[in-house]
Amino acid sequence: MTYYMPTKIYEQEECIAAHAAELAALGKKALLVTGRRSAKLNGAEADVVAALEQEGVRHALFDEVEENPSIETIMKARDFAVKEGCDFFIGIGGGSPMDAAKAISLMAKNSDKGVDFLFGEDPSAQWYPVVAVPTTCGTGSEVTGISVLTIHEQKTKGSIPYRIFPELALLDAKYLKKAPAGVLRNTAMDALCHLSESYINAGANDFSRMCALAGLEAWSRSKAFLEDPTAVPEEETLRNMLKASTLGGMAIAQTGTSLPHGMSYGLTYFMGVAHGRACGQFQAGYLAEADPADAEVVVKTAGFQSIEDLNDFFGKACGVVEIPEETLDAIIGQLVANESKLKSAPFPVDSNVLRRIATYNQ
Ligand SMILES: [Fe+2]
Repeated sequence: MTYYMPTKIYEQEECIAAHAAELAALGKKALLVTGRRSAKLNGAEADVVAALEQEGVRHALFDEVEENPSIETIMKARDFAVKEGCDFFIGIGGGSPMDAAKAISLMAKNSDKGVDFLFGEDPSAQWYPVVAVPTTCGTGSEVTGISVLTIHEQKTKGSIPYRIFPELALLDAKYLKKAPAGVLRNTAMDALCHLSESYINAGANDFSRMCALAGLEAWSRSKAFLEDPTAVPEEETLRNMLKASTLGGMAIAQTGTSLPHGMSYGLTYFMGVAHGRACGQFQAGYLAEADPADAEVVVKTAGFQSIEDLNDFFGKACGVVEIPEETLDAIIGQLVANESKLKSAPFPVDSNVLRRIATYNQ
């Protein structure tokens, strides 16, 4: 068995200020990588700037990362980072800015390389240090080497083959307070999917399952607010949900995700469905195909009575998506061609199994 997760995690109030010196020691000039608004609204960008300035470290800002970042955005940010002379990268936000920061770091370090290098799998490739500041509670990207980008040419999303773990993950649940309710619901659903798909995974071992189970327990303690659109979660609830999300990241850093994530990429690409909701859509179907004893552990530890109960919860929290037949065909067609995702399921998979999973709640 192996467990590898080399990111140093700090989880505490005022985390960034508390570790300013360690953050600033990672390089001479930082590139802050964010979306357009949320890092400004929730205060995380200002906290990072204050920490760097206190330590006398220069910084630049790239705040153009879109949801599901494209390789075009990565290349644009790389050119900016090289021009600015940045030598470490701080992703602030949900999965998109954190994943983008990893890919930008790789391309900035290899500034003579073209876009093909991103998916080229060069075993000797190096990158600059990356720091992750999560401000949602789903992706777990702060503790994974995974960077998922949109590939318009293939009409889907895909992970780059490099494993770029952040040096530092700085977790402060106060940033989640400003996240819109819909974002919290979708990202919390993503966290549940990471935990479930890692537990039920051909690559699972005792170490990865330890993370998945601890994450499912934390998730179960916080899930109640997701069903009620008017609920304002308490700080302790958000802290638990952020913990669940990071534990989910630690679990998928070992196993990767599985079939629901593989199907979600097409649902997001073709129908614009938010990532967490798109993964949640296929979760009950996936659990129904798994070993019943394993599925029961996931369902019960997450605080549900049954797979059906979990599916009802998903419907209330995120809403079941009605998928047109031709989109279903495209999603299944893409996944059938994705051999590594198929192998991640701990049971035999063919297009009939995929169709059962995809249509479980249709
Ligand atoms: Fe995910």
